[in-house]
Amino acid sequence: MRHANVRDLLASASRIAVLTGAGISAESGIPTFRGAGGLWRSFKAEDLATPGAFARDPKLVWEWYDWRRGQIASAQPNAAHRALVELEVGQVANLRRVANPPAEDSTSPDQQRFTLITQNVDGLHNRAGSRNLLKLHGDIWIQRCTACGAERNETHTPLPEIPPRCSCGGLERPGVVWFGENLPEEILARAQYAATQAEVFLVIGTSALVYPAAGLAGMAKSAGAKVVEINVAETPVTNWVDYSLRGAAAEILPQILP
Ligand code: OAD
Repeated sequence: MRHANVRDLLASASRIAVLTGAGISAESGIPTFRGAGGLWRSFKAEDLATPGAFARDPKLVWEWYDWRRGQIASAQPNAAHRALVELEVGQVANLRRVANPPAEDSTSPDQQRFTLITQNVDGLHNRAGSRNLLKLHGDIWIQRCTACGAERNETHTPLPEIPPRCSCGGLERPGVVWFGENLPEEILARAQYAATQAEVFLVIGTSALVYPAAGLAGMAKSAGAKVVEINVAETPVTNWVDYSLRGAAAEILPQILP
């Protein structure tokens, strides 16, 4: 019944925004961060995912990222990633037009209709085929030089050299956001804008604990969106969302597609 309500909401919305977290990739075999089997149960974030940790021991940090890259490389996008592609394609093809976009809205009509915001760095949304995708926490397949700032895509696993070096000789770092660092400003601004413009906001597979990403659902709600959570467990947003669908994203998402 609630699934049918959410399906109707999605079918009639001209603007949809979605926030995903590690839970959407769980069924692809990629560990989440918190909860049973979560990475932060076996590893300390402060040893591996902070600027201080990298300054102290870049080799250790890179070994951990190299291990995670190997896990991700052997994983495939799952039914939840694919359902979000289907939702985007359907939404973009829809004849409904976004009525009177605000003058400051510089996004294309397709982007106005559907925005996928992810905290995941695994690249599985890209591999599934999502298009209007905002990566709030960066991308594990990008390396950035700490000396000259150059970025490059590096997909070899295992990495040929640890720690990797830029062609300028500088030390490279993973192109992800670490604890204590700011999110990319423009991407965050676009995510916040999409949240405030959305008629329906889906929040999928995230513990909703890490800000500013965790604040997006509340922003959407305050701006008038219907907020729908999909998660196997309760989270801090469960008690105020409009619909909370309990279960695996890969099972539920295909059931609520319009
Ligand atoms: P978490 O590991 O904190 O939370 C994963 C969420 O997914 C939990 O709420 C689970 O209940 C839920 N979950 C697990 N399996 C699921 C499934 N099959 N279907 C639906 N939900 C499922 O991951 P995030 O919220 O993404 O940041 O974590 C946020 C940030 O904290 C990450 O981006 C990362 C981490 O430290 C940085 O690295 C900066």
